[in-house]
Amino acid sequence: MCGIVAATARREVSEILLEGLRRLEYRGYDSAGMALIDNEQRLQLHKYQGKVSALEEAQSLNPILGCTGIAHTRWATHGQPSAANAHPHISRQRIAIVHNGIIENHAELREDLREAGYEFVSATDTEVIVHLLHRFVHEGKDLLGAMQATVARLEGAYALAATDVEHPDQVVAARSGSPLVVGVGIGENFLASDTLALRQVTDRFIYLEEADVVVCSAAGLAIYDGAGEPVQREMKRVSGDVEDADLGDYEHYMLKEIYEQPHALAATFAKASAGDVDASVFGDGAAEVFAQTQAVQIVACGTSYHAGLVARYWLEDIAGVPCQVEVASEFRYRKRVSHPNTLLVTVSQSGETADTLAALRFAAPEEFIASLVIANVDNSSLVRESDLAFLTRAGMEIGVASTKAFTTQLVAFLMLALALGKERGLSVERQQCLKEGLRDLPDLVKQTLKIDAAIEDMSAAFIQKHHALFLGRGIQYPIAMEGALKLKEISYIHAEAYPAGELKHGPLALVDADMPVVAVAPNDELLDKLKSNLEEVRSRGGELYVFADKDAGFTDEPGVHVLAMPHAPEVLQPVIYTVALQLLSYHVALQKGTDVDKPRNLAKSVTVE
Ligand code: M6R
Repeated sequence: MCGIVAATARREVSEILLEGLRRLEYRGYDSAGMALIDNEQRLQLHKYQGKVSALEEAQSLNPILGCTGIAHTRWATHGQPSAANAHPHISRQRIAIVHNGIIENHAELREDLREAGYEFVSATDTEVIVHLLHRFVHEGKDLLGAMQATVARLEGAYALAATDVEHPDQVVAARSGSPLVVGVGIGENFLASDTLALRQVTDRFIYLEEADVVVCSAAGLAIYDGAGEPVQREMKRVSGDVEDADLGDYEHYMLKEIYEQPHALAATFAKASAGDVDASVFGDGAAEVFAQTQAVQIVACGTSYHAGLVARYWLEDIAGVPCQVEVASEFRYRKRVSHPNTLLVTVSQSGETADTLAALRFAAPEEFIASLVIANVDNSSLVRESDLAFLTRAGMEIGVASTKAFTTQLVAFLMLALALGKERGLSVERQQCLKEGLRDLPDLVKQTLKIDAAIEDMSAAFIQKHHALFLGRGIQYPIAMEGALKLKEISYIHAEAYPAGELKHGPLALVDADMPVVAVAPNDELLDKLKSNLEEVRSRGGELYVFADKDAGFTDEPGVHVLAMPHAPEVLQPVIYTVALQLLSYHVALQKGTDVDKPRNLAKSVTVE
């Protein structure tokens, strides 16, 4: 999704802005631009549809230089991807602005501004902001006052950074609903939508809070809260993670991240000291909350939602706690009835997903006893705004397709089931068995990664296909959903997942030789039922691709292609089958030649509704 970088310094900043944009490329975007105030106090602008490399090329042919500047990668919401719609937007050669988020009342503001004589050159919602800001400075407000007056008129979500040629040493910024951090330097200051963009210049960050406005110059910073009062916000040092942005010997981040899973899973389980999982790993006060918890409500989006669906099986089976799971964009708008003493659990790799955050923010205080987030990014909005937090240790995930974040979320949920189970009389033997499983999991994933070459061979059969069906039963149904999501998002093959028992209630009509059917078939208590379902596919000429436990009794035959999976205890099967399906979608996408790490139309962190 859109990325912001801004800088104000005593040195020339164009290269810092460009490097910041390169580091934000992983978020997904369709155009890029930057504006600088040159040493003659003129606004200089480059913006292009396409990659940051187009901007770099323009900069090398026709450099724009200055000590104050703003830059942006845009992921189109209002108005198609084009140079005209790319940011920064400019008002009367004086004000330049970059924006993440969506302004909901832009149509009405546009009318007002048109009547006031402002001309619009883009189809974006953002352009109203730049003209509003211009209008207020033109009326005599200083930059801070103009930004405060501007944001007071905006409805929706925004992170903004703006420059004014009349104040060439300042950048003014504001946020509400979209993330923005200040990078604190020595004799220079920066802004960005995530810390990674600025780790090139600083390790000291201030996470702006909702409705904050900040004025940055090389000399210092002044932050004001939503009521316009000056405030101090805590400065944090951020370490680690930078090396995660290095591809090493891998061709794609997705493959690197798939292969990092043994380490990430072990690191996440290592949060429990000496392998003894209890409530304290979920934060101070978790023990009191878990002692009262009578139900769990999980809310998330995309892959994180699938982790929640897997967790429901564990929370009900292991901890004996009733559990509901819902996608955040539905949950947030629904009139709901909760069980008494329900724990709200949000799940998010980024910790910034707009719908998940809104679900947390708009939950009524009396609805839940507490909120717990399972997230991968420290200091993210969900982490800061939840009562309890569990940080997975996946490390930075750059590929848009979530891989190691998902499997570490599963580890976090197993640990949650254990901690809640302990409160509810889970037997010591079962606790022991789960802990041993969690300890052995990284090795099992390593064994699964060894069948990569066989999965690659199998993947060739998918590249000419337009559709695929994924089947699973029980806890493997959400794993089939995750497999289908991976395939569709990076290879653009339409893929659907069904609980195998539902086949004959409709989807069987789709089965023919052109519809590959992928089955998740561990050796569990539903195996025989699944086999009968797969027979239904075979007898209609469907081609089966079965990811099966070595002992599940499947053999290769015409129309049945078997991938032998390592034998694993039932509780670990969802993780290893996920890894195999991640590799399948990776190899299909690779052979199709799609952009594996930055699939079309998608963004890594979905910070707009
Ligand atoms: O950062 P989050 O986990 O909240 O993101 C939620 C989804 O946008 C994300 O999982 C998305 O579905 C992935 N691209 C799937 O691979």
